[in-house]
Parts: sequence; C-alpha cells; structure tokens
Amino acid sequence: MKPTDVQKLFEEALEARQNSYCPYSGFAVGAALLAQNGDIFYGCNIENSSYGATICAERSAFSGAISQGVRAFSAIAIAGGYTKEETLVPAYPCGICRQVMSEFCAPKTFQIILGTSPEELQIHTLEEILPYGFSLSPVP
Ligand code: THU
Repeated sequence: MKPTDVQKLFEEALEARQNSYCPYSGFAVGAALLAQNGDIFYGCNIENSSYGATICAERSAFSGAISQGVRAFSAIAIAGGYTKEETLVPAYPCGICRQVMSEFCAPKTFQIILGTSPEELQIHTLEEILPYGFSLSPVP
C-alpha cells in the first residue's frame, strides 16, 4: 500500500472510533478493514455490562464484512485510546481478534496498521503478530 493509502485507512479507523461504545473501560477503538475489492468495513468496540459480551472493534469490522459476503481482505487499520485523554496509544489487536484474522487473511500479506496518529504508524503482517497460530482444515 502507498503511504498515503495507509494514512487514509488509519483516518477511517479514527472516524469509526467515534462510534465506540465503551462506558466500562473508557478505551475507545475504531477499525477500518480494507477488502481486496476496495470496499472498507468499519468497526468499533461495543461493550456490555456483562463484560464478556463485549466485541472488539476488529471483530466488529470482520463481522460486518463477512455478513455482507466479503471474505478477501488486504489490511486493517486500528485506532485506540482512552476517551478521557487526547492521545491515542498503539492498539495492538487482542489474541482473539488475531485468531479471527487468521481465518480469513493471508499471513504473509495481510497488513495490520496501528499507531498514535496518521503520521506515526507501524505496519505488521499477520504472520508477525500471530506466529504458530491454530488452524484446522475445513471438513472435505
Ligand atoms: N478492544 C478492542 O476493541 N480491540 C482489541 O483488539 C483489544 C481490546 C476493546 C475491548 C474493550 O471494549 C476495550 O478495548 C478494553 O479492553
């Protein structure tokens, strides 16, 4: 991806973060998932008073895409930080979200973009952040 496209995708994640529902943690996350067809799917964390029912921003974006029949992805940008603070923190995806990515995304080419501003970003491949992930072959 071109550096400007990386920045743009992160800006979309920042927009998605505006919709975060996080009254319990105060940590707002937004995600912008770029499909190979060019479409972007947005996600935010949606918390619940029964904490385990919370869904992360990344999985919320994947759920939207898969539900609409899209299964081929190039990259995801993630923006996270405490709502009471102005600054973002590098929001690495949690283990469950990494596992969900591994179901649909190519380990060597899928890009995970995160950072503290559109000018301060890091890019990782899925393989880098999820080495030795679990997988099963689908039943023939
Ligand atoms: N969260 C995400 O949205 N994505 C992650 O990968 C890690 C954590 C959310 C869940 C919860 O609403 C808040 O951040 C604090 O854990």
